[in-house]
Amino acid sequence: MNVEKHDSLSIVTDDDIVRVRQRVRDWAVTLGFSLVDQTKLVTAASELARNTLVYGGGGTLLMEVVVNNRKRGLRLTFEDKGPGIADVDLALKDGFTTGKGLGLGLSGARRLSQDFELTSCPDEGTRVVIARWN
Ligand SMILES: Nc1ncnc2c1ncn2[C@@H]1O[C@H](COP(=O)(O)OP(=O)(O)OP(=O)(O)O)[C@@H](O)[C@H]1O
Ligand SMILES: [Mg+2]
Repeated sequence: MNVEKHDSLSIVTDDDIVRVRQRVRDWAVTLGFSLVDQTKLVTAASELARNTLVYGGGGTLLMEVVVNNRKRGLRLTFEDKGPGIADVDLALKDGFTTGKGLGLGLSGARRLSQDFELTSCPDEGTRVVIARWN
Protein backbone atom coordinates (compact mmCIF):
# COMPACT_ATOMS: atom_id res chain seq x y z
CA MET A 1 0.00 0.00 0.00
CA ASN A 2 1.30 3.44 -0.99
CA VAL A 3 0.48 6.80 0.53
CA GLU A 4 0.07 9.33 -2.30
CA LYS A 5 -0.79 12.36 -0.27
CA HIS A 6 -1.24 13.16 3.39
CA ASP A 7 -2.19 15.96 5.71
CA SER A 8 -2.71 16.37 9.42
CA LEU A 9 -5.35 18.43 11.20
CA SER A 10 -5.63 19.18 14.89
CA ILE A 11 -8.95 18.63 16.64
CA VAL A 12 -9.11 20.96 19.61
CA THR A 13 -12.19 23.11 19.08
CA ASP A 14 -15.69 22.85 17.60
CA ASP A 15 -14.43 24.84 14.61
CA ASP A 16 -11.88 22.09 13.98
CA ILE A 17 -14.73 19.62 13.53
CA VAL A 18 -16.23 21.87 10.86
CA ARG A 19 -12.81 21.97 9.16
CA VAL A 20 -12.53 18.17 9.37
CA ARG A 21 -15.91 17.80 7.66
CA GLN A 22 -14.95 20.27 4.91
CA ARG A 23 -11.55 18.73 4.28
CA VAL A 24 -12.84 15.17 4.18
CA ARG A 25 -15.57 16.26 1.75
CA ASP A 26 -12.97 18.03 -0.45
CA TRP A 27 -10.68 15.01 -0.61
CA ALA A 28 -13.58 12.64 -1.23
CA VAL A 29 -14.72 14.81 -4.15
CA THR A 30 -11.18 14.92 -5.57
CA LEU A 31 -11.03 11.13 -5.36
CA GLY A 32 -14.24 10.88 -7.36
CA PHE A 33 -16.41 9.33 -4.65
CA SER A 34 -20.15 9.33 -5.26
CA LEU A 35 -22.27 11.77 -3.28
CA VAL A 36 -23.51 8.90 -1.10
CA ASP A 37 -19.95 7.74 -0.36
CA GLN A 38 -18.81 11.30 0.34
CA THR A 39 -21.59 11.67 2.86
CA LYS A 40 -20.80 8.34 4.53
CA LEU A 41 -17.18 9.39 5.00
CA VAL A 42 -18.01 12.88 6.18
CA THR A 43 -20.57 11.55 8.67
CA ALA A 44 -18.20 8.94 10.06
CA ALA A 45 -15.37 11.49 10.27
CA SER A 46 -17.61 13.95 12.04
CA GLU A 47 -18.59 11.42 14.73
CA LEU A 48 -15.00 10.32 15.28
CA ALA A 49 -13.73 13.90 15.41
CA ARG A 50 -16.37 14.74 18.00
CA ASN A 51 -15.35 11.76 20.14
CA THR A 52 -11.71 12.81 19.84
CA LEU A 53 -12.64 16.25 21.11
CA VAL A 54 -15.21 15.34 23.78
CA TYR A 55 -13.77 12.13 25.24
CA GLY A 56 -10.15 12.25 24.11
CA GLY A 57 -9.63 15.84 25.21
CA GLY A 58 -8.53 16.75 21.69
CA GLY A 59 -6.20 15.07 19.25
CA THR A 60 -5.31 14.84 15.60
CA LEU A 61 -6.65 13.59 12.30
CA LEU A 62 -4.21 12.16 9.77
CA MET A 63 -5.71 12.14 6.27
CA GLU A 64 -4.11 9.90 3.65
CA VAL A 65 -4.82 9.08 0.04
CA VAL A 66 -3.77 5.44 -0.19
CA VAL A 67 -3.26 3.26 -3.25
CA ASN A 68 -3.58 -0.50 -3.15
CA ASN A 69 -3.16 -2.30 -6.49
CA ARG A 70 -5.41 -0.25 -8.77
CA LYS A 71 -7.64 1.03 -6.00
CA ARG A 72 -7.41 4.46 -4.46
CA GLY A 73 -8.88 5.19 -1.06
CA LEU A 74 -9.14 7.73 1.69
CA ARG A 75 -7.78 6.63 5.06
CA LEU A 76 -8.51 8.65 8.17
CA THR A 77 -6.67 8.14 11.47
CA PHE A 78 -8.06 9.82 14.59
CA GLU A 79 -5.71 9.82 17.53
CA ASP A 80 -5.83 11.19 21.04
CA LYS A 81 -3.92 10.80 24.28
CA GLY A 82 -7.03 10.84 26.43
CA PRO A 83 -8.26 8.35 29.03
CA GLY A 84 -8.80 5.55 26.50
CA ILE A 85 -11.68 3.08 26.35
CA ALA A 86 -11.78 0.31 28.97
CA ASP A 87 -14.11 -2.01 27.04
CA VAL A 88 -13.90 -1.49 23.28
CA ASP A 89 -16.58 -4.08 22.41
CA LEU A 90 -19.01 -2.39 24.77
CA ALA A 91 -18.19 1.08 23.40
CA LEU A 92 -19.03 -0.19 19.89
CA LYS A 93 -22.53 -1.31 20.90
CA ASP A 94 -25.44 0.79 19.67
CA GLY A 95 -26.67 2.95 22.52
CA PHE A 96 -23.65 2.67 24.82
CA THR A 97 -22.55 6.05 26.12
CA THR A 98 -20.72 7.36 29.15
CA GLY A 99 -21.75 10.88 28.20
CA LYS A 100 -24.93 12.61 27.15
CA GLY A 101 -24.95 11.32 23.58
CA LEU A 102 -27.05 8.62 21.97
CA GLY A 103 -24.17 6.19 21.90
CA LEU A 104 -24.43 5.84 18.14
CA GLY A 105 -21.25 7.58 17.00
CA LEU A 106 -18.75 4.74 17.05
CA SER A 107 -21.15 2.05 15.89
CA GLY A 108 -22.42 4.34 13.14
CA ALA A 109 -18.89 5.20 12.00
CA ARG A 110 -18.10 1.50 11.79
CA ARG A 111 -21.19 0.79 9.67
CA LEU A 112 -20.41 3.70 7.36
CA SER A 113 -16.80 2.67 6.75
CA GLN A 114 -15.32 -0.13 4.67
CA ASP A 115 -12.27 -0.54 6.94
CA PHE A 116 -12.58 0.16 10.64
CA GLU A 117 -9.98 -0.37 13.35
CA LEU A 118 -10.27 0.81 16.94
CA THR A 119 -7.28 0.56 19.27
CA SER A 120 -7.39 1.91 22.77
CA CYS A 121 -5.42 1.56 25.99
CA PRO A 122 -6.71 2.93 29.26
CA ASP A 123 -4.58 5.94 30.27
CA GLU A 124 -2.76 5.97 26.93
CA GLY A 125 -5.37 7.06 24.44
CA THR A 126 -7.43 5.99 21.48
CA ARG A 127 -6.80 5.50 17.79
CA VAL A 128 -9.49 4.89 15.21
CA VAL A 129 -8.56 4.19 11.58
CA ILE A 130 -11.22 4.14 8.89
CA ALA A 131 -10.95 3.87 5.14
CA ARG A 132 -13.18 3.93 2.09
CA TRP A 133 -12.11 2.70 -1.33
CA ASN A 134 -13.02 3.87 -4.75
N1 LIG B 1 -11.72 8.96 21.81
C1 LIG B 1 -12.33 8.42 22.88
N2 LIG B 1 -11.71 8.40 24.08
C2 LIG B 1 -12.30 7.86 25.18
N3 LIG B 1 -13.54 7.31 25.15
C3 LIG B 1 -14.21 7.30 23.98
C4 LIG B 1 -13.65 7.85 22.78
N4 LIG B 1 -14.54 7.67 21.79
C5 LIG B 1 -15.59 7.06 22.32
N5 LIG B 1 -15.41 6.83 23.65
C6 LIG B 1 -16.33 6.14 24.57
O1 LIG B 1 -17.22 5.34 23.81
C7 LIG B 1 -18.57 5.71 24.09
C8 LIG B 1 -19.40 5.50 22.84
O2 LIG B 1 -19.04 6.45 21.84
P1 LIG B 1 -20.12 6.88 20.77
O3 LIG B 1 -19.52 7.88 19.85
O4 LIG B 1 -20.69 5.64 20.16
O5 LIG B 1 -21.27 7.52 21.66
P2 LIG B 1 -21.37 8.97 22.32
O6 LIG B 1 -20.27 9.85 21.80
O7 LIG B 1 -21.43 8.76 23.79
O8 LIG B 1 -22.75 9.49 21.76
P3 LIG B 1 -23.05 10.01 20.26
O9 LIG B 1 -21.81 9.79 19.45
O10 LIG B 1 -24.19 9.17 19.76
O11 LIG B 1 -23.38 11.44 20.42
C9 LIG B 1 -18.50 7.13 24.60
O12 LIG B 1 -19.60 7.47 25.40
C10 LIG B 1 -17.19 7.10 25.38
O13 LIG B 1 -17.37 6.53 26.65
MG1 LIG C 1 -19.80 10.03 19.83
